[in-house]
Amino acid sequence: MKRKELIKKYLEFFKSKNHKEIPNSSLVPQNDPTVLFTTAGMHPLVPFLLGQKHPLGKKLVGVQRCVRTGDIEMVGDEVHHTFFEMLGNWSLGDYWKKEAIEYSFEFLTKILEIKKEKIEVSCFKGDKDSLKDTESEKIWKSLGINKIKFLGKEDNWWGPAGETGPCGPDTEMFVNGVEIWNDVFMEYEKDKEGKYFEAKQKNIDTGMGVERTLAILNGLEDNYETEVWKPIIKKIESLSGKKYKGNEKTMRIIADHIKAGVFIISDGIIPGNKEQGYVLRRLIRRAVRYGKELEIRDFITKIAEPVFEIYSDYLNLKENKIKILEELKKEEQKFSQTLEKGLNEFNKLTKDEKKISGTNAFLLYQSYGFPLEMIEEESKKNKIKFSKKEFEKELQKHQQLSQTASAGKFKSGLADTSEKTTKLHTATHLLNEALRTILSKDVKQRGSNITSERLRFDFAFDRKLTSEEIKKIEDLVNKKSKENLKVSREEMPLKKAFESGAQGEFGAKYPEKVSVYTIGNFSKEICTGPHVKNTSEMGKFKIIKEESSSSGVRRIKAILEDSS
Ligand code: SER
Repeated sequence: MKRKELIKKYLEFFKSKNHKEIPNSSLVPQNDPTVLFTTAGMHPLVPFLLGQKHPLGKKLVGVQRCVRTGDIEMVGDEVHHTFFEMLGNWSLGDYWKKEAIEYSFEFLTKILEIKKEKIEVSCFKGDKDSLKDTESEKIWKSLGINKIKFLGKEDNWWGPAGETGPCGPDTEMFVNGVEIWNDVFMEYEKDKEGKYFEAKQKNIDTGMGVERTLAILNGLEDNYETEVWKPIIKKIESLSGKKYKGNEKTMRIIADHIKAGVFIISDGIIPGNKEQGYVLRRLIRRAVRYGKELEIRDFITKIAEPVFEIYSDYLNLKENKIKILEELKKEEQKFSQTLEKGLNEFNKLTKDEKKISGTNAFLLYQSYGFPLEMIEEESKKNKIKFSKKEFEKELQKHQQLSQTASAGKFKSGLADTSEKTTKLHTATHLLNEALRTILSKDVKQRGSNITSERLRFDFAFDRKLTSEEIKKIEDLVNKKSKENLKVSREEMPLKKAFESGAQGEFGAKYPEKVSVYTIGNFSKEICTGPHVKNTSEMGKFKIIKEESSSSGVRRIKAILEDSS
C-alpha cells in the first residue's frame, strides 16, 4: 500500500463513523510556549481537549506532520525519525474506550486486512495515580485479541506533551513487534506541581505512525525501504557511489535530517541560534557532518529534491520550494566555513603542545561552533590528547548557567490558559489591528507566541519601525483597551469569516468552520482563543522590543505592565 492510499483510507474510515477532518497544522505550535514543535496530532487540539468547544464537533480525524527531536540519537535504526506523519482520531468528551478500541480493531483487521493473530496489545498496569486498565483488556478479549501485556507509566501512559495538560493511560497496538498505533484515554490533567487530577472532559486521542504502518503493510522491516524514504536513500547512493547496505546508519541519518529540515523551513523557520531555528541548524549541520563519512560535499539541496516529490500533496512545500532550497544551501555553506575556521583554530591551539584542554575544546565548540565529534576526530587523527570528560564538565557548567537564565521562560504550562496569558492574547489582537491602522492595511500576521510574561508577534513588513510609530501603536492599543470594548466569539464557515473581513495568519491552514473573535468594532480575527471578556481587564500595553525576525518579517515583543 502507498502512503496516499493509507491516509485516504484512514480519513475515509473515520469519516464513515461521523468524524470530521481537521487540517494538517504547522510544525510550529501556535500559542504554546512549552514545546518547540508539534510532536503529535493532539497539539493543535489542546484548547479543545481542555474543554473548549471545537467548531467541527466532538469527533475528529486528521493527519498531522510532526517533529520529535527528543530522541534524535535514536535516528539511524529502522524505525525512528525526527519528522514523521501521524494519523489520528479524537473524541472530545464523546465516545470512550469501547468505541475507540473497536474502531482501531476494525480499521486494522477489515480495512488494512492485518490478521488478528499478528496483533499484540499493551495496557496500563496501574499505579498510585490510576487503576489497572482491565476495561481495555476486556474489550480486546471480546474482539479475540489475547496477546495482552500490562506495563507501567514509562510505556503505557501518554502526555502531557509539555509540563502540564491532558494525559492518561493508553493501549498500544503492535504488529510484528512494532508499535503502530496508540489509543490514549485522556482522563487526567497534570498540574504544575506534578499532580494528576481527573479531567472535566474525558477525551480519546489516538496516533498511528504512517511510516511504520507503511513498512508493516508492505512486508518491510526497514522503514527506509518504503516509498517515503527510498527515493532519498537512492539519491544518497547515487551521489556518493556507495551502497545503502553497509552504510545504513549514516544514510538514514542524512535522509532523516534533510527531510525534517525541508519541512521545518516550509513552516517559516530559518536556521538560527535559538529555539526552532537552532534545532533546524543542528539537523542540517549533522547531515553535513555525516555526509563527510560518505565523502560527499555540497549535497544537501540535491538530496532534498525527492522530498518535494514524495510529499507532492503538501502545498507549503511546493509553494516555498525555492526558499527552502536557498536556506538549506546557505546553512550548508556557512557550516563549511565554520568547519574551516574551527580547524584553523584547532591547529593553532595544538601547535605547540599535542594536547587540547577541556576549556579550549569548549571554546572551539561554543565560540567557533566546531562540533565535538570533529574535535574527537581531529585529535585522534593527529594524535592529540583530549579529555572528553573535561570538556563535558565545562559544558555542564555552561548549561547550568543558561538553564537558570531560561527557567522563567518555560514556567507557564502547556496551553497555559492563565489569566496573564489570556490578557496578552487579547492584547495581541489589538496589536495586530493597531499595526494595520498605523503602518499599513497590508500588514499580515506571520506568527505568534505567548507566555505569561510577554507576547511575541511576527508580521510581514519590510523595514524597521520608527520610535514615533512604536509610540503611536502603543497609544492606540492602550486607547482601545480603555474603551472597555467587549470581546465576543462567533462560529462561522471559513469563507464567511474571510468575507466578513476577519484577519487570519498568512499561510495558516484553517478548518472549514472557525471561531472568530471580535473586539468592539476594532478587531476581528480567526482564532481558537481564549480571550478576556472585556478589554478593561487588560493592563498597560508596552512594546519592549522591535526587531527583524527574518527577511521581510518584523518581530515585536510586548508586555502588559500593571496587569496582575
Ligand atoms: N498523542 C499520542 C501519541 O503521540 C496519541 O496520538 O502517541
